[in-house]
Amino acid sequence: MTGAEPAVTVGSDALAGQTVVLRPTGAQHVGSFMEILQHPEVSRWWGGYDLERVRRELLGPHGYAVELAGEVIGLVIFREQNDPDHRYAGIDIALHPDAHGQGLGTDAMRALVRYLFDRRDHHRIVIDPAAHNERAIRSCRRVGFQPVGVMRRYERSADGTWHDALLMDLLREEFIG
Ligand SMILES: CC(C)(COP(=O)(O)OP(=O)(O)OC[C@H]1O[C@@H](n2cnc3c(N)ncnc32)[C@H](O)[C@@H]1OP(=O)(O)O)[C@@H](O)C(=O)NCCC(=O)NCCS
Repeated sequence: MTGAEPAVTVGSDALAGQTVVLRPTGAQHVGSFMEILQHPEVSRWWGGYDLERVRRELLGPHGYAVELAGEVIGLVIFREQNDPDHRYAGIDIALHPDAHGQGLGTDAMRALVRYLFDRRDHHRIVIDPAAHNERAIRSCRRVGFQPVGVMRRYERSADGTWHDALLMDLLREEFIG
């Protein structure tokens, strides 16, 4: 096990954080995910999701619902580059704004990162928040992610303009779990 042992006990497919639980996604999560992703405080950072895209991209083995005391408060996903010479995993996260700023995003990221290092045998994980998304960057730093560099005009905003993103990466030995 890398880092601290989780404080909550969960079923075999779920991932335990200190406070949150990551549950494998299913059709029952579509409504909550839509509500979270269409909230303006979330869609400004992670936008463009309609029902069809939620079903296509967020349900399945690479997605987890973030639960707090049985309530869905967010979602995390990962993707994997499995070329053996360039292997890494990338993650994304969104929590409902009611849950922001309480350390829950950090807890959820740690649970997913621990899974990717310990059970999927990754050595490097990346995340790419918008360069002006200070809360996300601080939360990532708390997990141990370090800035690699700014990717210029990397991502299209809801208003159609392109904004910069900060590529951050985390090596196994740097994980603050
Ligand atoms: C990014 C996100 C997952 C972080 O989760 P969170 O639970 O809100 O974050 P945490 O409470 O774990 O940590 C937030 C950190 O940012 C700081 N912070 C909070 N609000 C802030 C703000 N408006 N500006 C700058 N920093 C802020 C907190 O003080 C804390 O840092 P500290 O512990 O060093 O003091 C969550 O805010 C979210 O879902 N945002 C919308 C979607 C999004 O931005 N996704 C990012 C994709 S990479």
